[in-house]
Amino acid sequence: VVLVRRQMKSSDRWAKAEAILKELDEECGAPAAKLRPVADAMTVEMHAGLASEGGSKLKMLISYVDNLPTGDEKGLFYALDLGGTNFRVMRVQLGGKGSKIKQESEEVSIPPHLMIGSSQELFDFIAGALAKFVSTEGEDFHLPPGRQRELGFTFSFPVKQLSLASGTLIKWTKGFHIEGTVGQDVVGELTKAMERVGLDMRVAALVNDTVGTLAGGRYNNPDVVAAVILGTGTNAAYVERANAIPKWQGLLPKSGEMVINMEWGNFRSSHLPLTEYDQSLDAESLNPGEQIFEKTISGMYLGEIVRRVLCRMAEEASFFGDNIPPKLKIPFILRTPDMSAMHHDTSSDLKVVGSKLKDILEIPNSSLKMRKMIVEICDIVASRGARLSAAAILGVLKKLGRDGIKDGEKQRSVIALDGGLFEHYMKFRNCMVSTLEELLGEAADNIVIEHSNDGSGIGAALIAASHSQYLQIEES
Ligand code: GLC
Repeated sequence: VVLVRRQMKSSDRWAKAEAILKELDEECGAPAAKLRPVADAMTVEMHAGLASEGGSKLKMLISYVDNLPTGDEKGLFYALDLGGTNFRVMRVQLGGKGSKIKQESEEVSIPPHLMIGSSQELFDFIAGALAKFVSTEGEDFHLPPGRQRELGFTFSFPVKQLSLASGTLIKWTKGFHIEGTVGQDVVGELTKAMERVGLDMRVAALVNDTVGTLAGGRYNNPDVVAAVILGTGTNAAYVERANAIPKWQGLLPKSGEMVINMEWGNFRSSHLPLTEYDQSLDAESLNPGEQIFEKTISGMYLGEIVRRVLCRMAEEASFFGDNIPPKLKIPFILRTPDMSAMHHDTSSDLKVVGSKLKDILEIPNSSLKMRKMIVEICDIVASRGARLSAAAILGVLKKLGRDGIKDGEKQRSVIALDGGLFEHYMKFRNCMVSTLEELLGEAADNIVIEHSNDGSGIGAALIAASHSQYLQIEES
C-alpha cells in the first residue's frame, strides 16, 4: 500500500511540475503576431518621448552628441566605463585617418558593497583606480607638453544631460542603489573625486554606453545607425533628425542630427507577455515598477526568473523532493551565465545541469528528467527575452523608416550590438537574430547586426577627442 501511495505521489509531482512548465511556456510565448504590436508600441512611445519631457515611459534622452566620429580624431584620450558589475579604464592614442596607434585597458570589479553604499565612496574608488591606471602610462602614449589629460566618461544609467560634459542622474538601475547621487551632476562627482585623489584630468564627454557603442561602431563603419546593449541591462541609442525632436529647445545642430539615448529598458506595454514570476521579481526588486522591459530581457534578471520558476516547482510540485532546497530561496543566486551554461549543455546526461544544481543550489542528486525540464525552462525564458529584443529593434527600425524595402531600393543599415548577454549567450543571440529576420522578411537582407566589441569605452574616448578643449587651438 505504501509503495502504491508513493508512486502516485511521484506521478502527481511530475504532473504538477509539467503543468507549471506548460503554463510558463504559454505565458511567455511570443509568436510574430504578438511581437508586431510590441514593435509598434515601441515606435509609438518613441514619438511620444521625443514630443515632450515625460511624454512617455521612454525617456528618449538627448545626448548632445550631434556629430559622430569621422576617423580624423587624433591624440591621447582616456575613457572610463561604469555601468555593470565591472568598470573599465582605458587609454587610446589616436592617429587620425581612422587609426588607433595603441590602446590599453584594464577591468576592475566593483566591490558589491559600493553598489549600495555612498556616492563619495563609489566615486573615490573609481577615481583611485583611474589614477593608478594613469600612473602606468608608457612611452607609446604622447601628451603634448602643457596639456591636461582628457576623458570620455561612459556612465550607463539614465542621465539628463545638461551639456555634452555634464548631466544629472535620473535614477539608478541594474542593482545600483546609492543614496545621494540622484539629481547630482555625475561629472561633478567624478571631478571632485579626481581632485581628492590628486588626478589632473578633465571630463570632455559624458555618454551612455549605447551612445559610446554607436560612436565606436560608426568609427569603424559609416552605415551604423543604431546601437543596442544586451548585457546586465538593456538599452538602445540611434541617430535622430534634430527637427524630429519637438522637445528640443536648443539651436538646431549644424549636422541636423542628434543621438538619442532611448532608455528602452523602461519600456512597458500591455502587449508584453508577462508572468507571475516577473511580477514578484519586480515587486521585490530595488526599483519596483521601473525597467519592466529590462527585467524580462537582460542578463541581470534572466537567471533570477528561472530561479523563481524552480522555486514554485519546488514548493508546489516537490520538484526537488519533500524539502525546498534552502539555497534556492536566495534571490539572484542563479546567475545568467550559469543559466546559459545549463542551456548549452549538450552532454547526453546533461552533466553541466547536474553540476550547476549541485554546486550552486546544493541539490546533489538530480534525475535526467528533472535536468531536461530545467533546460526547457531556460529555453523558454531566454527565448522570450531574445524575441522581445528583436521586436524592440524592429520598433527602432520602423521609426527610422528602415524596416522595409522602398521602391526596390536597397538601403543598408547596420546596428552595433554589445553586452555580455549578446556576446556570450549564444542561444539568446541566435534566437534574437533569427527572430529579427523572421519579423523583417525580405527586408532582413538590408539589416546587419554587428558585434561592436567594447565599443562603448572607445566610443567615449572618440567623442572626447572630437570635443577636446584643444581642438580649436589645433584648427587655428
Ligand atoms: C540600463 C541603464 C541604461 C544602460 C543599460 C545598458 O538600462 O539604465 O542607461 O544603457 O542598462 O547598460
